[in-house]
Amino acid sequence: MLKGRNVLIGITGGIAAYKICELIRMFKRQNANVRVVCTENALNFVTKLTLENLSKNPVSINEFDVEKFNPEHISYADEADIMIIAPATANTISKIANGICDNLLTSIVCAFKKPIIIAPAMNCNMWDNPIIQDNLNKLSKLNYKILEPESGYLACGYEGKGRLCSVDVIFEEASKILNQKQFLSGKKIVITSGGTIEDIDPVRYISNYSSGKMGLALADIANEYGADVTLITTCDTKRNYQIINVKSAIEMKNAVEKELENSDCIIMAAAVADYRAKNISEQKIKKTDDDEISITLVKNPDILKEISNKKTSQIIVGFCAESENLIENAKTKILQKGCDYLIANDISRKDIGFSSDYNEVTIIDKHGCMKKLSRASKSDIARQIFETIYG
Ligand SMILES: Cc1cc2nc3c(=O)[nH]c(=O)nc-3n(C[C@H](O)[C@H](O)[C@H](O)COP(=O)(O)O)c2cc1C
Repeated sequence: MLKGRNVLIGITGGIAAYKICELIRMFKRQNANVRVVCTENALNFVTKLTLENLSKNPVSINEFDVEKFNPEHISYADEADIMIIAPATANTISKIANGICDNLLTSIVCAFKKPIIIAPAMNCNMWDNPIIQDNLNKLSKLNYKILEPESGYLACGYEGKGRLCSVDVIFEEASKILNQKQFLSGKKIVITSGGTIEDIDPVRYISNYSSGKMGLALADIANEYGADVTLITTCDTKRNYQIINVKSAIEMKNAVEKELENSDCIIMAAAVADYRAKNISEQKIKKTDDDEISITLVKNPDILKEISNKKTSQIIVGFCAESENLIENAKTKILQKGCDYLIANDISRKDIGFSSDYNEVTIIDKHGCMKKLSRASKSDIARQIFETIYG
């Protein structure tokens, strides 16, 4: 199953380093190409000779030991399909989380644009340290796959959480990622997310409760499936694919229109405000003695409708949030908008939709065919949406 896939294994200075010998053998048995990079400290626990014999490749440690003209931290990052750091010490995790590149392994990570699995292993008190937990949370939010350690008897004599997860778990997770269908490879997919922010004056605005989680899940899954992804968002998000930050509906419209020509599919998951203030006051609006104040609102452009009119071969997908008569309203809307698919969301439910990590949607296509996706994580819903559109 893994024939010809390039697996880069980074080993750091933890007692569990010896377990990685078995992991290398598991990949080799599946005919994967394995390359190993070590920190200098890792070699206190496992020998270079062993790792070279198992991986059938030279093991690199120092980025300045180069014979070729091609810097290894870049060429290794380009060549590998996946990187696994196991065991990952508290030290290396913290360096990666803070962008420190002071050895070959951390420099590769910094230049690596494909999936990275991190399997931490350390003493349970180190694991509980809030600084280490903050660094792991940061990496998890940045889409690094963290395989949590197990609890049990630790080599340092303590009993607790910190033991490297089983190499079977690491192998299975890596295989799952490597075998994932790359059916969006070569496709340029543009996704919008978040609620737009419409200024009233320098300190006030109109917006909505959209968290941007559904759009982000779609972008992450499209990226996992091999697409060239652009996320146009009002949210503060960091990813290793292209992110364009916008604020208002007008800014979002301009950004989407710019991307339209070169894209294969546009998914409008953002909650775009229907109206904006007609005039944005340059100064903060002062409180007066009047009990009422009026702000004139004007209609925002209907981005979904406009791009559906302008499109050539692109697949255009819209989202509609409804609090009543979900299906009837969605069926009317897809005709009005002229898009290819509409994903209907019931926002009256508290257990799905806005801010939740879960969703339950109905996909409606332009011919009126419907597919209901039961309640699932937004990532699972995103997977099913792409499988419906491109399946
Ligand atoms: C015997 C021994 C075992 C160690 N095991 C671990 C470990 O399992 N996890 C960890 O985070 N650090 C462990 N350390 C500490 C690391 O080796 C140390 O933090 C080192 O700076 C890590 O360097 P590296 O991240 O560049 O490999 C151990 C140290 C010793 C001496």
